[in-house]
Amino acid sequence: MEKIQKLIEEHVGYLIVFTLLVISVAMLVEILPLMFQKSTTQPIAGVKPYDALQLTGRDVYIREGCHTCHSQMIRPFRAETERYGHYSVAGESVYDHPFLWGSKRTGPDLARVGGRYSDEWHNTHLVNPRDVVPESNMPAFPWLVTTPADAAGVAAKMTALRKVGVPYTDQEISEGKAKVEGKSEMEALIAYLQGLGLALKNVR
Ligand code: HEC
Repeated sequence: MEKIQKLIEEHVGYLIVFTLLVISVAMLVEILPLMFQKSTTQPIAGVKPYDALQLTGRDVYIREGCHTCHSQMIRPFRAETERYGHYSVAGESVYDHPFLWGSKRTGPDLARVGGRYSDEWHNTHLVNPRDVVPESNMPAFPWLVTTPADAAGVAAKMTALRKVGVPYTDQEISEGKAKVEGKSEMEALIAYLQGLGLALKNVR
């Protein structure tokens, strides 16, 4: 045994090979089963793919870096569930590519912010957070009101997402552009926020 240990520790090539071997086995045992487990790969009841406008809003959310201050993952602890609602489950984010779980919380978690405020509140808040939360240090995003949402790109995005398993129909994809046309980025972003976390919203 000691001989083998000496051999491995003194030859960096062996060390690398054995390290990779150990990590690979660990991955097989821990990660592989998750890929076949229904609870991690199937959407839970009530989870629908984002519609064209919400999908456009989600991209605004990512572009503006909202996820760098807001997580979208409620942990299964009393303090979290009392504040935000039911803890997050994997089946809620099967249509999120990429997912936006995160752990950085400069602001509150947004996993279940859907329906918590009115559209008007969000609009005022995003134009200038201090107008509704005086002590807020969240940045203002006033340009979203006047920037048109990207209608031309949405069909291609939906087609790409369908390739990775989001079940958009041909009709939803062909109607995507019309759904986004004439809307501002603010309207798209608010549509996205208002849809967040509704499937498990009222479960405690
Ligand atoms: C620099 C960090 C930061 C960034 C970036 C940021 N926020 Fe915030 N956000 C905060 C803080 C802090 C609060 C708490 C104070 C408040 O309500 O304004 C907050 C609050 C919120 C709330 C209210 C949540 C609740 O449950 O009361 C929403 C909704 C929100 N942010 C959305 C957004 C969106 C959408 C973006 C991107 C366009 C964004 N935030 C970008 C820091 C940030």
